[in-house]
Amino acid sequence: MPNTNSDAKKEPMSASFDLTQLTPNNGKYTTIPDKKFSARETFGIDIDWDIPGFEDDQNPNIPTIDKTYKFDATTTKAILAGFSHNRRVMVQGYHGTGKSTHIEQVAARLNWPCVRINLDSHVSRLDLLGKDMISLKEGKQITEYKQGLLPWALQNPVALVFDEYDAGRPDVMFVIQRVLEAEGKLTLLDQNTVIRPHPAFRLFATANTVGLGDATGLYHGTQQLNQGQMDRWNIVTALNYLPHDDELNIMLAKYPELDTSQGKEELSAMIKLATLTREGFKNGDISTVMSPRAVISWIENTQIFQNREEAFIMSFLNKCDDLEHNIIKEYYQRCFGIDL
Ligand SMILES: Nc1ncnc2c1ncn2[C@@H]1O[C@H](COP(=O)(O)OP(=O)(O)OP(=O)(O)O)[C@@H](O)[C@H]1O
Ligand SMILES: [Mg+2]
Repeated sequence: MPNTNSDAKKEPMSASFDLTQLTPNNGKYTTIPDKKFSARETFGIDIDWDIPGFEDDQNPNIPTIDKTYKFDATTTKAILAGFSHNRRVMVQGYHGTGKSTHIEQVAARLNWPCVRINLDSHVSRLDLLGKDMISLKEGKQITEYKQGLLPWALQNPVALVFDEYDAGRPDVMFVIQRVLEAEGKLTLLDQNTVIRPHPAFRLFATANTVGLGDATGLYHGTQQLNQGQMDRWNIVTALNYLPHDDELNIMLAKYPELDTSQGKEELSAMIKLATLTREGFKNGDISTVMSPRAVISWIENTQIFQNREEAFIMSFLNKCDDLEHNIIKEYYQRCFGIDL
């Protein structure tokens, strides 16, 4: 059969996946990276790397660019190493610090299709690998093998992100272990097939713990990870709370309407309060911390309710233990001079 696609020999056959079909290759783009992006210009970080990516930006699995996104240098460098050198990168840190979105926003700028899976305790081996399913064909019931997300992603130019990696079930983790090595082939026993990874397949994970169990009590449902499995992650980078001014700049970029002297002062006090909860947590005074995500929802709720205090109560205070309300009200008093 004549083959007009010059790429076709280099890459494995792309298989279909019902939810996240890649657009058919219409000859306009290749599935091998065909463009270089300067790390300095694209991400504003101080390194001389050229990162491979794609010219084509039409693939439906490319995440949408958040123009206001601020890249943290250390985290971004680790993720870029993952994309350009095919390293397996895990981003670990407290909740709501920007782990998942960092990977997504890097992919968005490289035009690299990116699929995120939440590895919660309901994801099973069969969900990942595929299973026989009954479907209707020409009015008849037939049993058909439906490919899982892992074999699909493995054969495509896709950055696969396992979110909440430390919440995955042990049986699922062993499936992932097989593909963690760069050459990691996947054998589907019941299909008698061996799947080789596509050269542009990438694997990332985000987790709240480093797989040694949860020492903080914040992350119920996480598991200790098998050390043989942790060992296969080439790069582990930590993204925790950023310094006050960095967090302020992220919020100002997101909400430019607050970029006035009054707005900045208010925002700065909000972040100070968040910082107090983080310090209070470290010292064992309170058990709930205010993440950057919580600050974002406080800002947005303030805009909805037109009342900062009411918004604070609903965005954060009501999530805290009754016994700790007084401490948090005192923090509020310290930052805003107002009794809640
Ligand atoms: N550097 C940043 N620039 C702009 N927005 C950010 C940044 N970091 C975090 N955010 C925003 O903070 C929110 C939380 O980010 P994200 O969901 O990536 O956190 P996470 O670390 O993955 O949290 P979790 O551990 O709970 O999964 C998002 O709305 C994201 O847009
Ligand atoms: Mg996340």
